[in-house]
Amino acid sequence: MVVGSVLVTGGTGYIGSFTALALLEADYKVVIVDNLYNSSEECVNRIELISGKRPVYYRCDITDEPALDKVFDEHQDIDSVIHFAALKAVGESGEIPVEYYRVNVYGTICLLRSMSRHNVTNIVFSSSATVYGDATRFPDMIPIPEHCPLGPTNPYGNTKMTVELLITDHVAAQRNNAKKTGKSGEEWNGALLRYFNPAGSHPSGVMGEDPQGVPYNLLPLLAQVAVGKREKLLVFGDDYNSKDGTAIRDYIHILDLAQGHLLALNYLREHHPGVRAWNLGTGKGSTVFEMIKAFSHAVGRDLPYEIAPRRAGDVLNLTANPARANEELGWKAKHTLEEACEDLWRWTKNNPQGYRQQPPQEFVEK
Ligand code: NAD
Ligand code: WQD
Repeated sequence: MVVGSVLVTGGTGYIGSFTALALLEADYKVVIVDNLYNSSEECVNRIELISGKRPVYYRCDITDEPALDKVFDEHQDIDSVIHFAALKAVGESGEIPVEYYRVNVYGTICLLRSMSRHNVTNIVFSSSATVYGDATRFPDMIPIPEHCPLGPTNPYGNTKMTVELLITDHVAAQRNNAKKTGKSGEEWNGALLRYFNPAGSHPSGVMGEDPQGVPYNLLPLLAQVAVGKREKLLVFGDDYNSKDGTAIRDYIHILDLAQGHLLALNYLREHHPGVRAWNLGTGKGSTVFEMIKAFSHAVGRDLPYEIAPRRAGDVLNLTANPARANEELGWKAKHTLEEACEDLWRWTKNNPQGYRQQPPQEFVEK
């Protein structure tokens, strides 16, 4: 029995693909749109391999409104969207900010307009802990609650905050207009999910993160060191005010993150809260050195690293206070950092070419 139909933008990307899998496993019908800018269509096969169900896939750009309209026309049962499609490289966003606003902000405008035309009224949005900027400027706000003042420090973060405002204003307007005119719109809802640092892969070893260019994040870089694609990890700063001098982040297993989307979607569909922000993090911070140790343990040998200067724009501590999601969504991160490291290592070993190769044979034969 299908419990609902969801459009997943950016659904062949890292977080989108795991969320599509979680939705299928929870008996949602899933329609993916993705232009494959940073992903591969092979991912659709892997989702099917694990779940036994195949999402519908369209190669489609979210800034192409007629194409979005066509997808909604062909799937009139869709009542909700989970919106991942975006550009996400912090450094690059400083070099080509207009492109980041075009895809992330204008792309969301196209999506909201197309949703409105098709009476699709629930949107779950991929926001980011980056909207908080340097939360350590408010010492009583660590771990960070949702009411911490926002203050992104780079163009990527600005686009995320802008889209949060855009969705908030759009949902409010739809609800107000509906009240005034008696026409439909009152049912609009938005979830602003502020993720901390996603980590790990599927325990089967057939699904994981497969960025198309040079990775930027700590764990994919460590994985490249482990397979010899990179000589060593550069540790960006060992002079932070933390127990070992390196910066603190809240690493959350991708399976837990995907589950958070499912529960947020269910919450919107059941409780119609209007717009609500939720942090998705574990509440536990880990330093860069602790991450190197945990991943080295999963690999079974020490991985080389070297201390380098701090990376521009980095902050000391981004750790979530996830109490709101725990209480309201009934969501809690279950998987450990050790599992995230083991799963990432299994995925890396099994798929040295990522999705540009066949899935590991033993999995196919099962
Ligand atoms: P990802 O790059 O793996 O996924 C994004 C997907 O969007 C890709 O498959 C890409 O091909 C697609 N896409 C990009 N531009 C598009 C366009 N114009 N039309 C259609 N599809 C397009 O990234 P991810 O890590 O899975 O991130 C998903 C979302 O979560 C993004 O919005 C990102 O900003 C946000 N986020 C990511 C992190 C993180 O650390 N990975 C943290 C917080 C928030
Ligand atoms: C983690 C820690 C680095 C690489 C970014 C975005 C954020 C969100 C998640 C999208 C930091 C250190 C890293 C390396 C290192 N994405 N590090 N050597 O910066 O917390 O968050 O991804 O929304 O917006 O900013 O993640 O994985 O890049 O870094 O020492 O080669 O690892 O300094 O302390 P970050 P990260």
